[in-house]
Amino acid sequence: MYGLLLENMAEYIRQTYGEERWEDIRRQAGVEQPSFSVHQVYPENLITRLAKKAQEVLGISEREFMDQMGVYFVGFVSQYGYDRVLSVLGRHMRDFLNGLDNLHEYLKFSYPRMRAPSFICENETRQGLTLHYRSKRRGFVYYAMGQIREVARHFYHKEMRIELLREELLFDTVHVTFQLTFDNRAFTLASLAMTREEKHLPISASVLFEIFPFCIVFGSDMVVRSIGNSLMVILPDLVGKKITNWFDLVRPLIAFKFQTILNRTNNIFELVTVEAVIHEKASDKRNELLRLSDESDGTTDKNLRLKGSFMTSQLQGHSNKYLSETLY
Ligand code: HEM
Repeated sequence: MYGLLLENMAEYIRQTYGEERWEDIRRQAGVEQPSFSVHQVYPENLITRLAKKAQEVLGISEREFMDQMGVYFVGFVSQYGYDRVLSVLGRHMRDFLNGLDNLHEYLKFSYPRMRAPSFICENETRQGLTLHYRSKRRGFVYYAMGQIREVARHFYHKEMRIELLREELLFDTVHVTFQLTFDNRAFTLASLAMTREEKHLPISASVLFEIFPFCIVFGSDMVVRSIGNSLMVILPDLVGKKITNWFDLVRPLIAFKFQTILNRTNNIFELVTVEAVIHEKASDKRNELLRLSDESDGTTDKNLRLKGSFMTSQLQGHSNKYLSETLY
């Protein structure tokens, strides 16, 4: 985990309980360094070890400690200029929440080895919404609650009540469901109507295929109907096959099923081919074109990684087709 979160914890303890308490805690936790570099990656268990020791030494509950650490983070990151990033994430709290996933996606430019959390909004009303938080890490539920409440207060001047509805573990992913209650008058039926309008933009298939040479069109049965010209060069046999047999969905952390991706039009999706697409004899030029990373999802630089979003379309007279639009 990046030092940004560890340094936030250290600074929170120093500012709230004093330097001496922090020294006590880190020594008792067997941690050598007194502070952490924001962009350095530290062992995954370090923050949990420190947090446990802090709760013990300070005599406070996990809930209170992690929540307050989350609250502190919002002010803490302003020293790195991130307050400006946070303040332009959306006009309303609902826009901010809808953009949280993309914020962490964008932050990967600065923190390339990040194992980012994923946030998805659902069941929106004028009184609030349901927020799904998914992560490969455990122990950050109250931290996330503190952060979100503080963002609402600090940037949107809104009091927010967050209820923890469910916490489930699905393989290696924690899925947490929150009910957020706040003044969400920004949500109107008009905004829904607009989204629906956008889904039916009268763009011809040929134009779309020209703009997005890596696009994939598939139906509710997940079978690929057509693909962009550039993708055709790399995966000529993809058409007519199930997209789920050829690609793994890396982000967001949801099941790769038609129903689950249906309303996620504001999320960046990341797909990685199950098989390598570059073989030993591939030319350097092709290698360069498909410069891909070796992230912690177990893929190598020989797999094709696509980033983009899904949208409904009326291509070729059929409804409910989806496409991925960009290559990363
Ligand atoms: C611009 C401000 C922000 C920055 C720079 C930032 C950066 C980071 C970084 C570097 C990590 C560690 C990931 C890793 O080391 O693998 C992280 C984790 C996390 N971030 Fe942010 N973040 C920001 C805003 C937010 C906001 C507003 C939320 C609101 C909920 C949030 C929620 C989380 C959570 C819950 C985790 C932790 C653990 C996990 O689930 O894996 N972050 N963030």
